[in-house]
Amino acid sequence: MPDKNGFPHFMLKEIFEQPKALKDTIAPRISLQNGDVRIDSEVRISAQELRALRRINIVASGTSRHAGLAGQYMFQDLAHVFADVDYASEFEYRNAPIGPEELTIVITQSGETADTMAAQRLAHKKGSRSIAITNVVNSTVANEADGVLYTHAGPEISIASTKAFTAQMAVLFLLATYLAQVREQLSRDSSRRWIEELTALPEKTEATLRCAGTCRELADRYHRFGDFLFLGRAAHYPVAMDGALKLKEVSYVHAEGYPAGEAVHGPKAIIDEDLPVVMIATCDATDQGSKVRYEKSVSDMRAYKKQNARIIALASEGDKDVAQLADHTIFIPQAPELLAPILEMVPLQLFAYYVAVAKGLDVDRPRNLVKAVTQE
Ligand code: F6R
Repeated sequence: MPDKNGFPHFMLKEIFEQPKALKDTIAPRISLQNGDVRIDSEVRISAQELRALRRINIVASGTSRHAGLAGQYMFQDLAHVFADVDYASEFEYRNAPIGPEELTIVITQSGETADTMAAQRLAHKKGSRSIAITNVVNSTVANEADGVLYTHAGPEISIASTKAFTAQMAVLFLLATYLAQVREQLSRDSSRRWIEELTALPEKTEATLRCAGTCRELADRYHRFGDFLFLGRAAHYPVAMDGALKLKEVSYVHAEGYPAGEAVHGPKAIIDEDLPVVMIATCDATDQGSKVRYEKSVSDMRAYKKQNARIIALASEGDKDVAQLADHTIFIPQAPELLAPILEMVPLQLFAYYVAVAKGLDVDRPRNLVKAVTQE
């Protein structure tokens, strides 16, 4: 029987295991000395084939699909390969035009999700090769893949996926960097910088976990609200989606995750004091795109305050503007635009967890859900 190791629930234990899960997933695959990623023996697809790729198709369900959405930005920004993301359950209906020049990446914590398995088989039938990202050694999806990159997160017992999700995003970043290396899209200096940033990630995750007390206070204050809106732009939009999913899943609270810029096309109509807005407004000051995104999010917050919204914001350490605008601000250590989502996820997991606790729910085993959906 797995041990909670002194934690009241597996979900909380697993949230706190994220620094180790990230370290175990990242460290064996990078060389700090050479400043590169070494995963040839796991990818098992020749450099020649990887150079010829025209497109990547990512297929997954639920939280694993959210990791895929974050991965889409990584593949496009680092390796300059166009990437699509599909719901595994929708893949067979889309008649995706894929073949040998498209790589299929299947992401699944359990490696046994029926829809993901079916999508992988269909992709193979169409001539596409697959790489599986999974947490379970010798799972069906792993065994059927051309290449396998395991997340070394350790067993995940809680039905809500936490440490597997952040480890999946780390693996996607490793794979995107590796593809960029193989396709000669990354200078040695940039590659070295990414390796240093990856190395720093577990410690930054540890630092982010210090917000647990604040998340608990926020949960005590907000657990009676019936609806939440989570907003984020670009690579932070999948974080908004997963923040909302976690809250629905363990707290039974209706929550929607939306791309922040899309809110003006409908959801803005219902933003008022009864619909708390969780805004992801971090900023990587070294990245022009991140600065533009941030300014837009700050301007959105101003507009929502005029509608009397209660705003819980995630901001980068040292940010004063967001803290002045939002009702509550949780600070995230400085991180590059593509890696910040891993850190941002931590307070959203903690918030969902503490709301469920405040409501007296069975956090690890939410009603109507199972850990692996093994039937289509
Ligand atoms: C959410 C959650 C689910 C799973 C989904 C896919 O916290 O756990 O949404 O992510 O059922 O499962 P895997 O990753 O095992 O394919």
